[in-house]
Amino acid sequence: MCGIFGYIGEKKDAGEIVIEGLKKLEYRGYDSWGVAMQTGMGMKLKKDIGKISGVSAKDVSDVSSLAIAHSRWATHGGVTKENAHPHLSQDGTIAVVHNGIIENYEELKKELMNKGHTFASQTDTEVIPHLMEEYRKEGMSLQDALRTACGRFEGRYAILAFDATDHTLVAARTGSPLIVGIGKGEYFIASDIPAFLEHTRNVHYLDDGEMVWTDGKKIHFSSIETGEEKQKRTINISWKAEDAEKGDFEHFMMKEIMDQKESINRAVHQDDKEILRVAKEIETCLGCILSACGTAGKVCMAADYFFSVVAHRHVNYVASSEFKIYHHFLKPESLLIVVSQSGETADVLEAMKVAKEAGSKVLAIVNVEGSSIYRAADFALLINAGPERAVASTKAATGQMAVLLLIAYAVAGKLNEGRTLLLETGAKINDMLNPRYIEHIKGIAQKIHTHENLYIIGKSWNYPMALESAIKIQEVSYVHAEGFAAGELKHGPIALIEEGTPCIALMGNDEMTADMLSNIMELKARGALIIGVSPERYDSFDFWIKVPDSGPAQPIVNIIPIQILAYFLAVLRGKDPDMPRNLAKSVTVK
Ligand code: F6R
Repeated sequence: MCGIFGYIGEKKDAGEIVIEGLKKLEYRGYDSWGVAMQTGMGMKLKKDIGKISGVSAKDVSDVSSLAIAHSRWATHGGVTKENAHPHLSQDGTIAVVHNGIIENYEELKKELMNKGHTFASQTDTEVIPHLMEEYRKEGMSLQDALRTACGRFEGRYAILAFDATDHTLVAARTGSPLIVGIGKGEYFIASDIPAFLEHTRNVHYLDDGEMVWTDGKKIHFSSIETGEEKQKRTINISWKAEDAEKGDFEHFMMKEIMDQKESINRAVHQDDKEILRVAKEIETCLGCILSACGTAGKVCMAADYFFSVVAHRHVNYVASSEFKIYHHFLKPESLLIVVSQSGETADVLEAMKVAKEAGSKVLAIVNVEGSSIYRAADFALLINAGPERAVASTKAATGQMAVLLLIAYAVAGKLNEGRTLLLETGAKINDMLNPRYIEHIKGIAQKIHTHENLYIIGKSWNYPMALESAIKIQEVSYVHAEGFAAGELKHGPIALIEEGTPCIALMGNDEMTADMLSNIMELKARGALIIGVSPERYDSFDFWIKVPDSGPAQPIVNIIPIQILAYFLAVLRGKDPDMPRNLAKSVTVK
């Protein structure tokens, strides 16, 4: 959460570079923004509430070759101009942007106030420049001041800082991501790659407990704890700048939904040897647990069914935020499979730590190569979805399901059959996502967008998709949506149904059909308006969204029209689907 971006180099428009780059990280937080520049006249600071996308970089920038910027997702202190980053030291010379939480900030603040410091914000962040200033007064270099300050912090952080009197950019990381982009005569440091993708694809990943400082010509890495300098490997990343742009689409969410015409094929494009290795680990381990958060968690729930139906193998799902208690079951022979788009989710990293402490192996299925989860795992598979910038996960979710279904087929000894099914499914999705189809779903959204309650039902692997449908609709349109296992309705939730309540039924061409039709009739008898997402049309449907018959890949196909419906519900209700209220893309706090 929170986007941070810094630049140092030969160019004279550092302010513009960091603001434009930060616009590409806005999915990480968007309640306020700010930029600090080193100029010929000293420190120049601009900040405000609202989204950075509305800011003209030219208007707020000055001639500068060193700048840091921030877009905020508030944790400590409300959304005010005072609480927006960067924060300055007492003497106004040190500027800091920060992502994460300094848990012991109150204690540090008291200590600093006793030394005469005054604070302008309610944030935890403001103690950082003030503490650095104290160490600078003792004669420390900027990097030593940051290192010493970090030694006092409890919590998670990614920090970027500079001093108006010293042409050096410093950064440190513990628990929140930081990546260094290497340009020609310039360096970029950001919380995510899209910030500098148009400038360079060569990166260094900072690990937890590491810091970096650069004067724009040379770069140094060291351990925060010992100060010992380190060499870092340069990694060339495969994402292209245009992958992170929305092109002709009005919103990233729709662009990323449409990317699913190709992204399933890219997800299936895996090295056979790696997939067979993973399959072997699953076969030989004593207990395999899947863990993730939010949408990725619903993907894992669908994978439970994949492993059961396709591979006859028992695999459990546990939400990462609930994982800790499972340490009683973990052994060195256990296998934890974590799934994450960003590869930075704090609860997932915490679950991995619990498993590692028990000596268990960890496999990660991620979208972002080089992310914290990717690097912390014993082995990792990429879903190759390309950058996902809308807050709502769409193409990453279907890519994750494709990889997990492929693994289930490999465990069953039918890898080729699985690949063929998924490639055929990719082709069917390509056909399905045509303009007429999109218009049809928009038409249904127009009929139901004023309803405040909406329910979704499914059985088998369509049950987790009912839960995922609810997440998609809730987060972008703010309609109260809830998903249920279809058979559970009569045990309570059916009391919610009134005349005209929209209910979505997710179906396949499978042995669940008869039961689903009975459950639909129960809803209809109470006045529900039924939207059937199914390969076949049934009389009980008021609206039918046709989906291709896809066998075990049905949940991958079925969630796509719901993503489209959620998108149109948001737009018709006047909401921005790319930046829903209260949310951020990468949840790096617990
Ligand atoms: C919802 C959504 C979130 C994420 C969750 C995990 O559309 O995107 O629920 O799925 O925050 O994020 P990752 O996959 O990055 O670990």
